[in-house]
Amino acid sequence: MTAKIIGIGAYAPEHIVTNRDLMEFLDTDDAWIRERTGICERRISTQEGTSALAAEAARRAVKDAGIRPEEIEIIIVATSSADRSFPSAATDVQGAIGADNAVAFDITAACSGFIYGLHIMQGFIQSGIYKTGLIIGAETLSKVLDWTDRSSCILFGDGAGAAVVQAAETGVIKTLVGSDGRKGDVLYCQARSLKNCITGGKPELGFMQMDGQEVFKFAVKKVPEIVTQILEETNTPGEEVQHYVLHQANTRILESASRRLKVPMEKIPVNIDRYGNTSAASIPILLEEMKRDGRLKPGDKLVMAGFGAGLTWGAALLTW
Ligand code: UT7
Repeated sequence: MTAKIIGIGAYAPEHIVTNRDLMEFLDTDDAWIRERTGICERRISTQEGTSALAAEAARRAVKDAGIRPEEIEIIIVATSSADRSFPSAATDVQGAIGADNAVAFDITAACSGFIYGLHIMQGFIQSGIYKTGLIIGAETLSKVLDWTDRSSCILFGDGAGAAVVQAAETGVIKTLVGSDGRKGDVLYCQARSLKNCITGGKPELGFMQMDGQEVFKFAVKKVPEIVTQILEETNTPGEEVQHYVLHQANTRILESASRRLKVPMEKIPVNIDRYGNTSAASIPILLEEMKRDGRLKPGDKLVMAGFGAGLTWGAALLTW
């Protein structure tokens, strides 16, 4: 038995922020952002937190799967921007959608979170512990961005994507994940400091800090590497794969992967122009769009690959 995605849902907040909107308070330029990143606009949440976005994406995925929320046995939310330190966003989702029989918890693997979630779910399903699960990537990174730092804040957007998975004969063929904790300072967001009435001073919260060029260099090397690895380890010829669904971080990273893998851009779907980088949500948001517009057909083979803070990376090969 393996994990098969039987339902997919996505939800992004309504409020659109264009590059030109950013130019009103930031020393930046629409043409620069389009040329250097491929982003034209992103969604920014004004009302709904991460759990609300996650719950709506989950409702849509459950509807798409045609199951009852009570059938879900496990909920994993991948997020780096939960509304509260505890309880988890996953238990919020459980309560909101009435998945009363599920165990629910969050994972943090930054932009690789959805693939990590699928990897964990695959383990539970292969071992027979659970048969039906829900994986959600959800972010409101807008609240941790330094909106005065033009080299990072222009990149990100808010949103959520969810997948219902179930034990089946075909589906996930292989997942692979990895981490390099020595590179943790390349991209991070400080949580609460140790300052309090014992240590002195007021508690502080940090903002995202990113060495963009380091992340870029890592991504253009790592993405082709893990895609090649997963194809080789499963003896899958690249031509058999219809879609390379890659984390949407920068169009130049996608184009570089296309060149290095010798895969035409027609096989690498792109929606970063409309959403920016939604971190853990980017892959399921893209999958939902592809399913809705008929690009994803039953039996299609697809590779997903992501990378992010940690540093972390992950890839999955599956039959849709
Ligand atoms: O999910 C993982 C999350 N992170 C990433 O994927 C980040 C990966 N890195 C990148 O996408 C790119 O490195 C960036 C888009 C962040 C930056 O692009 P770059 O081509 O690496 O630009 P740069 O940092 O080398 O900066 C080039 C110039 C600099 O000006 P000077 O020093 O040449 O005069 C920057 O100050 O571009 C300037 N610049 C900007 N100009 C207008 C940087 N950001 C902006 C901006 N608007 N928003």
